[in-house]
Amino acid sequence: MSIKEQIDLQRLPRHVAIIMDGNGRWAKQQGKIRTFGHQGGVKAVRDTVEGAAELGIDVLTLYAFSTENWNRPKYEIDALMHLLVQSISKETPTLMENNIRLATIGNTDSLPEKVAKNLKKAIEKTAGNTRMTLVLALSYSSRWEITHAVQRIAQEVKDGTLQPEEINEKVISEHLNTSLWPDPELLIRTSGEARISNFLLWQIAYAELYFTQKLWPDFRREDLFEAIVDFQHRERRFGKTSEQLKSEHA
Ligand code: IPE
Ligand code: IPE
Ligand code: MG
Repeated sequence: MSIKEQIDLQRLPRHVAIIMDGNGRWAKQQGKIRTFGHQGGVKAVRDTVEGAAELGIDVLTLYAFSTENWNRPKYEIDALMHLLVQSISKETPTLMENNIRLATIGNTDSLPEKVAKNLKKAIEKTAGNTRMTLVLALSYSSRWEITHAVQRIAQEVKDGTLQPEEINEKVISEHLNTSLWPDPELLIRTSGEARISNFLLWQIAYAELYFTQKLWPDFRREDLFEAIVDFQHRERRFGKTSEQLKSEHA
């Protein structure tokens, strides 16, 4: 049985998030400079996006550039931004063919004008697509996002449109960049690192975490399928006992 056939399509995670890591090491293994690895990562993005859409995942969020990544050497940031401009334009037809809508989370204002412009164009062009939403986290960090949410909530309290006692988990979720989508149920990180690196801290409260040694440029849809099969073998208890869950499903 192929790995895809092992997936129970009735129990798919609605939202999968991926920390795409290991581009630099992949390049280094081949004696190439780090930016070669970022170029290699584009193919992995394309294949994973198509694989997710083909399965019927509703939302796929990809961590492409973190707030902290601005601290990298300038040549690497420039190369990454150039690659983003190129790839967004080049991949828009694929998004259209696959009926995929593009969205973004993060501090778009901090992106070079060319990236922001291309991103906006692709988002507008794909706005009517309905099969899957591809969310690119760009210049994103969770603490940045939460800080902004708190600022906006505080402003509403100051303006008198929100009472402090009305602030609950739903209100907080609604003020995050991800307000339109359900929380990720599965979070994948490639390259063997077992950390979250400031990604979706609020939203992954109950996500299943999946770590793989594969470096991002080597990741393909079969690797996504493998992660989903693993996810489907887990018991998501949400604080309850295993016995409780069994009697609920009986
Ligand atoms: C992930 O690969 C891509 C970005 C963070 C932009 P890295 O560039 O972090 O690759 P490693 O972790 O150094 O191998
Ligand atoms: C996390 O990867 C950010 C992205 C994948 C965009 P990093 O490679 O920047 O993470 P750390 O710094 O090693 O934790
Ligand atoms: Mg890294």
